[in-house]
Formats: sequence, structure tokens, C-alpha cells
Amino acid sequence: MKIDAISIFPEFFDVLEISLLGKAQESGLISFEAHNLRNFTHDRHKTVDDTPYGGGAGMLMKPEPWGEAFDQVIGKDRPVVIFTSPAGKPFNQELARELSHREHLVFACGRYEGIDQRVVDYAGTVAEVHEISIGDYVLNGGEVAAVAMIEAIARLIPGVIGNNESLAEESHNEGLLEAPSYTKPQSWRGLEVPEMLLSGHHAEIEKWRKAQSLERTKQNRPDLLDK
Ligand code: ADE
Repeated sequence: MKIDAISIFPEFFDVLEISLLGKAQESGLISFEAHNLRNFTHDRHKTVDDTPYGGGAGMLMKPEPWGEAFDQVIGKDRPVVIFTSPAGKPFNQELARELSHREHLVFACGRYEGIDQRVVDYAGTVAEVHEISIGDYVLNGGEVAAVAMIEAIARLIPGVIGNNESLAEESHNEGLLEAPSYTKPQSWRGLEVPEMLLSGHHAEIEKWRKAQSLERTKQNRPDLLDK
């Protein structure tokens, strides 16, 4: 999978060199490149923002640098362009799975009060566009959101994480949260591993885990059960 990110702070993406995603880049499963939006400006100050038409607080990202960045990054392959925005549709495991099957993703990371809407509209003429939010809170920019999405998407690509079974058993896989889990020692600071997990009865353990998974979902995410 090819992943590009366009941002005025490309250093935010250095973390993708760590651990499993770093290995996935080394082995060629993922090819990642961060592009500095300021490299697509032509004035002395490398200006990427301006005041909004109609008034309002703060500055908006101006369209021209974005257009030139897209000209370089968006090829003839009609990639998926993801605009990170608190005004986007919610990111979740299902969307991560869908995006993990695509050949080329481009993350467009806004700063300030956002990006001129024509940038999104233009991208829609040369790519498949999604505006995506990682949650109901506001970050200072889209970079952290893009890193979170890239990690969630890339780990679903076969070969990126070593053990495929861990993907099948984790939270959000069947719309439920994962059951609590335990490792050695059996007794720690007076707290015991649940007896059931020591029993060796695999079918019973599965039933116990299902019940725990339902209970945890009821407690922490009742909204998931409504679905
Ligand atoms: N940029 C700022 N806040 C964001 C959020 N919650 N999700 C995605 N991008 C953002």
C-alpha cells in the first residue's frame, strides 16, 4: 500500500518508523511519504493561510499550495484522499478495514480553522474523497488523527502484524469489546487470575469470554449494543 501525507508539520509522521509499521516500511508492505505543504508555496514566507471570506475568527488554509501538492501526489490512480477534520464522519474499525484494501491513500492534514472548501471539492474531481474525524473532540491539527488512522489501517494489511489470530480476537471485531485478559503470575498482590481460565476447558472458556465481552460492552459502550 502506498500512503502519502500532506502537512505543514511532516515531522509528526516520524513515529511511523517505530516498531511494526517501521518494519512494514522496510519490508516494502507499506510505502509512506510525508510532504511539506510549504514546499508548494512560492512566496518568501511560504504562506499557507489567509483570512476567511465573510469574516470569522482565525485563519484558513489557502487553496493554491494544496492544488500543487495534489498535482504531485495524486497520480492517475484515483487514490483515496482523506481530509482529517473534526467535522468528518467518524472513523471506526469497519472503515479501517475498508481502507486497508485500497492501493493508495493520501492524508490531507489541515491546521488553523481548516482548509478552503474548494480544496475538498477539487480533490473530489481527481480522487475518492472522505472527510474523517477520529472522535468528538478538537485537535490542533490533523496530523495526530492521520497517524492514528494510518496505524489502525496498516496493521490490517496481511503481514504487517505477525500473528493474524490477534486480529480476529480483538475489540471491535464483531461489534463488541474484547474480554479482559490475564498472564503470569497466577497470583499478584492478592489478585487472582479467574479460575475459569485455568480450567483447560476450551469451550467453557470461550463461553466465559463471550459473557465477559458482553458485560464489558454493556458497561463501557452501551451504544455498541444498540447497533
Ligand atoms: N483535526 C482536528 N480535530 C480532529 C479530529 N477530531 N479528527 C480528525 N481530524 C481532526
